[in-house]
Parts: sequence; structure tokens; C-alpha cells
Amino acid sequence: MKTQVAIIGAGPSGLLLGQLLSQQGIDNVIIENRSAEYVLSRIRAGVLEAGTVELLREAGAGARMDREGHPHGGFAFSFDGRLERIDVHALTGKNVMVYGQTEVTRDLMDARTAAGSTTYYEAQDVQPHDFYSDKPRITFVHEGQENTLECAYIAGCDGYHGVARKSVPADAIKTLERVYPFGWLGVLSQTPPVTDELIYANHERGFALCSMRNPTLSRYYVQCTTDDKVENWSDQRFWDELRTRLPADVAADLVTGPTIEKSIAPLRSFVAEPMTFGRLFLVGDAAHIVPPTGAKGLNLAVSDVAVLYQILRGVLLDGRTELVARYSEVCLRRIWKAERFSWWMTSLLHKFSEDPFSQRMQLAELDYYTSSVAGRTTIAENYIGLPIESID
Ligand code: FAD
Ligand code: PHB
Repeated sequence: MKTQVAIIGAGPSGLLLGQLLSQQGIDNVIIENRSAEYVLSRIRAGVLEAGTVELLREAGAGARMDREGHPHGGFAFSFDGRLERIDVHALTGKNVMVYGQTEVTRDLMDARTAAGSTTYYEAQDVQPHDFYSDKPRITFVHEGQENTLECAYIAGCDGYHGVARKSVPADAIKTLERVYPFGWLGVLSQTPPVTDELIYANHERGFALCSMRNPTLSRYYVQCTTDDKVENWSDQRFWDELRTRLPADVAADLVTGPTIEKSIAPLRSFVAEPMTFGRLFLVGDAAHIVPPTGAKGLNLAVSDVAVLYQILRGVLLDGRTELVARYSEVCLRRIWKAERFSWWMTSLLHKFSEDPFSQRMQLAELDYYTSSVAGRTTIAENYIGLPIESID
């Protein structure tokens, strides 16, 4: 079998790229090693940058998001018993959208079905080949049958643990990494969110985050140790710990109930350079990971897609093959800035040690940034999403 663009992975980046290409009449096939139900069961990101929202609309997958998503004009930091709001809308003129990654994925899957594009779910032994030649291909097993998919380009949208990055020769790629000495314990609960907007809390016992999916579904996180286990956290212990880490008046309003999901995620910063290897592109988590503190992971995957889509359109519709060389450099400029913001938010809000000097530095930094217009503006600009370069 043959296609123009072979996409490995049906996460948000693979599905969005496929949808944008299909709209331009560019043939593409997605190969995913899990089932669609499994992909939809992963609870992940919840905050969409303004640029992500625009691109989902452009892809024809924004109608339900516009009906059911919740635009937010700001969020708050809590520290030292204070609650300080960052008015993102006043500072940038834009809102973020609270709409879960699960819903984005479902909308993109529905759009793909409507477009009649091909997806192989539950594919095994997925392997890209010959991407340094002009005849790349992917081999995989589907329903017991061996297949070869020939293509002009391969998009590796297969996440951090995927096969695309691992297929690149070791001397062609450099990886840079920071692993943080803590994780996030997250719960989903069928309870009304404690406030209308997100709260990022710095507390002497550790970080906490109050987030939500809709008016009856809350998402909360507390910082935990890297070797902690979900079994150590009864619902009661989780709610008690969360309450302790919030300002008293907020804690008093917290509605608790049985949790419907509980998981621990490690925190890491990771970047692979470059992101293009012949005719293979790495996209999204396949190329980079950010700690979730800046709400950037999914948004960064989408901005890679925005760049790659413009390049593939130029190459495949207008023969502008010289554009291929620009992908890595254009993406990495924005990625490093999002890495910086995510690292900074992580450093500002988490407990790294018992050292009281470091804790005072965090409080002074929070006090300074939230009380200065320049400080609030730099936070708002990064939170709403830095501009995505256009390829001309
Ligand atoms: P993924 O969503 O990882 O999709 C990759 C796809 O490729 C998957 O469907 C996978 O099954 C498939 N795949 C993998 N290997 C193969 C293979 N060999 N062959 C074929 N297919 C393959 N971001 C935030 O902004 N906020 C959060 O709260 C947040 N929480 C997170 C929690 C967890 C546990 C994780 C892992 C990530 C979280 N993220 C969060 C990050 C965000 O979810 C990712 O940045 C986003 O999913 C990236 O999308 P992607 O399409 O690039 O990769
Ligand atoms: C979430 O709702 O899951 C969420 C929101 C903001 C973040 C991270 C996670 O920074």
C-alpha cells in the first residue's frame, strides 16, 4: 500500500496533522499500536492555548469545543496564604480554553472518520525504514497480516515511548534532559470545581493544582515523591492533603467525593535535536517533554503540527522541497521557550528541599512577579502561548 504522508501514532498530534492534510487533499494513513478506546481512556491535559483552539477550528474539529469548552480569562497563584490572580485576558486580549485532551482526541477521531481517511489501530511491530532515501516505508502487522506502507514522508507522532525517535541512528540525534525529584498525583472527581479558574499553589508541604474539565468534573493534583504509589493515597488522605495546601477560604469551599481516576505522573524536561532525519519528522512528545506545570505539553505538540502542516503543504502541493530543512529549526525555537516557561513554573511552585532559604526565594519571586505589571505580563504571554511562526 501507498500514501503521501505516513503518520505513526493516533494521539492529538497524529490525528490533527492527518486532519489538516486530508482537508488539503493530501493522502495520509495513521498507524497506531493501541485501540481507539485505549487512546481515549488516557486522562491528560486540560488547558488549550488560544493558538491551539484556532488550529482545531481550522481543522474543522472545533464545533463541540466551542459549545462545551470553557474559555478562561485568567488563573491564580496561591502562596503564603494569599491568592493572586493573573488576568490573562486583560494582559494578552485572549483566553485559554478548558477542554480535555480526551475530548480533543474524540473530536479529531470523529472528523477523521467523516473524512474517510485510513487509520490502523492495534498495529504491531511498527517500524519505519529508509527515511534517508526518497522511498521511505513503514512495516507493521495488522490483524495478523504483515503490511508495508510506502510514502513520501513519515511523521513520528508516537509519543515519548514511540518507535520513531528510537529508529534514528544514535550519532544523528542529541537529547537533553532534566528529571525532577518529585511527581504529581492526580485525581478526577465528579464534584464541582472549588473555584471558576485554575489555582496553582505553592505550599510548604508541596505544590497543588486545582483544575477542572466542566462544572461538575474536577481535576486536582498534589506533588508527591517519585517512588510514591497510588495505593498509598486513600481518597480521604488526598482531600486532606489538598485542603492543607490551599488558602483557608478556598479550602473551606472544597467539595469532596469519591475519585473516579487516580494516577501518578513523573515530571521531566526532555528535548531531542534535531527533529528531522531525512524524510522522517518527529512531532510532539516524540521529540520533547515538558513538566505539566505550564500546561504546555499538548499545546507544544499542536504547534509542531502547525509548522509541519505548512511545510508539507508547500512541499506536496507546490513542490517546495527546500522547506523540509526549516522544520526543526522553526519548531525548536518555540520549544525551548516553552521548555523554559515549564521549567520556571516548576521551579517556582514545587518543594525541592527543606531549605528555608530556597522557600523564601520562591515566595519573593511569586510576590515580585504577581505585584508587577511586567511580571504578570510575562507570565500571561507564556501561558496564553507564544506565537507560532508562519512558513512563507
Ligand atoms: P501522545 O499523546 O503520547 O500520542 C502518541 C500516540 O502514539 C499514542 O496514541 C501511542 O499509543 C502511539 N504509539 C506509541 N508508540 C507507538 C508505536 N510504536 N507504534 C504506533 N503507535 C505508537 N500535558 C499537559 O499540558 N497537561 C497535563 O496535565 C498533562 N498530563 C500528562 C499526563 C501523562 C501521564 C502524560 C504521559 C502526558 C501528560 N501531558 C500533559 C502531556 C500531553 O498529554 C502530551 O504532550 C500530548 O499527549 C502529546 O501528544 P502526542 O500526540 O505528541 O503524543
Ligand atoms: C489539567 O487540568 O489536567 C491541567 C491543567 C493545567 C496544568 C496541568 C494539568 O498546568
